Amino acid sequence: MRNMTLTGISKIFGRNHAAALDQIAQGKRKAEIAASCGAVVGLRDISFDVREGEILILMGLSGSGKSTLLRCMNRLVEPTCGRIRVGDVDVTALGRKDLLAFRQQTFGMVFQHFALLPNRTILSNVGFGLEIKNVPAESRNARAREAIALVGLSGWEHKYPHELSGGMQQRAGLARALAADAEILLMDEAFSALDPLIRRDMQAELRELQAKLGKTVVFVSHDLDEAVALGGRIVLMKDGEVVQIGQPEEIVARPATDYVERFVAHIDLSAVMRVEHVADRAAILPLDGSVAQVRARIAAAPEAWFVAGPDGRLAGRLRPERLAAARADEPVSGLLDREAGCIEEGTRLDAALRRIAAEGSLAVVTPDGRLVGALTSRDVVRALAARPGAQIPQQDPHRGEASTQNEPAGVERWSGASPNFPSTRSATTVSTGSPSMAAG
Ligand SMILES: Nc1ncnc2c1ncn2[C@@H]1O[C@H](COP(=O)(O)OP(=O)(O)O)[C@@H](O)[C@H]1O
Ligand SMILES: [Mg+2]
Repeated sequence: MRNMTLTGISKIFGRNHAAALDQIAQGKRKAEIAASCGAVVGLRDISFDVREGEILILMGLSGSGKSTLLRCMNRLVEPTCGRIRVGDVDVTALGRKDLLAFRQQTFGMVFQHFALLPNRTILSNVGFGLEIKNVPAESRNARAREAIALVGLSGWEHKYPHELSGGMQQRAGLARALAADAEILLMDEAFSALDPLIRRDMQAELRELQAKLGKTVVFVSHDLDEAVALGGRIVLMKDGEVVQIGQPEEIVARPATDYVERFVAHIDLSAVMRVEHVADRAAILPLDGSVAQVRARIAAAPEAWFVAGPDGRLAGRLRPERLAAARADEPVSGLLDREAGCIEEGTRLDAALRRIAAEGSLAVVTPDGRLVGALTSRDVVRALAARPGAQIPQQDPHRGEASTQNEPAGVERWSGASPNFPSTRSATTVSTGSPSMAAG
């Protein structure tokens, strides 16, 4: 398994390639180049790495260059200039024969329309890539059956494509790519033709499969919710350029341009944010205090607090009723509710909502049990209310597709980490000390 590196990839359609490349080098944009020399810039000077084993999502409006870029990766579309490497193989330097072999062995493709052969069974379709490579029937069928099982189609081997639903045909398409055991899967709007519910299932399954098989997946989508559901880095494209690359939460927290900000304005924040983004890091008390000390500290915010031991690990929850009823010189350690509900820091907010609603507050902890902060429904509401673009008065009915002028930002922007969300408690006198305890 290897990284794929793109360096300075441009693709010009139409005439005047040389003039267009010149103008790209001068920093000119797609529209200017089209006006001055009539060339269509499909891709403009694109460089980034696809990391081994990641799901990378190419996102952008229709016409932004996603498919062109995907096809450049295995040279189904020839880049006009630039270099593509997979590990130490310079794909751009391969001659025709080597390229064919390399493409077959390294890349699997899954398209929006399933491209199954209608007069072959599912088994034969799934084994097709292997048949081309002259893999003998017995081992070909064995591998095809394995891939069919992976995508949940066992029992359908001898059906024909028209006997399967759209979702099942797409599973078969995916199985075909998996059977060939390609290192890098290139998927172009692979789920876009599916019904929304089936589509969501497929996204979840692709994610699981990818985690299990460790494949590198480059997935084209114009749907931000899909990108978020797939859970990988996003490469956001516009007019043949890459405008931003990052995890969805990074892009939402720090949009590189007004365009990006508008693009992500409608995103479901609860699917993007993780509990550690929202946790109140000032809600941590040290274990070695007395009741009097703690009372003085939390006087202004009588709600749930969590207590960390000297190692930074969660010791328990301190309920206000318990504190109120205790003697002033009692040690806090005797008052703790040791069964405090906790949730791991990487959890998505949408997956935490039900528990927060049921339990009132949760301790956010690292995988090794160190306390990060407290999570309450109030923290969640504050975070979701601060969505980017929340105060843009009028929505563009085309979700920004047509309008290219920049809207005034004037927006309370989600800042991506709780230190920038002033703690609801830190208005009191308590911000001395404890967060650093949790950090160890
Ligand atoms: N074969 C082609 N000839 C001319 N222009 C093309 C060709 N393929 C793509 N383009 C242009 O390149 C740009 C990017 O297209 P594409 O990669 O299909 O976008 P996306 O997949 O993001 O919708 C568009 O402006 C499109 O018109
Ligand atoms: Mg496309």
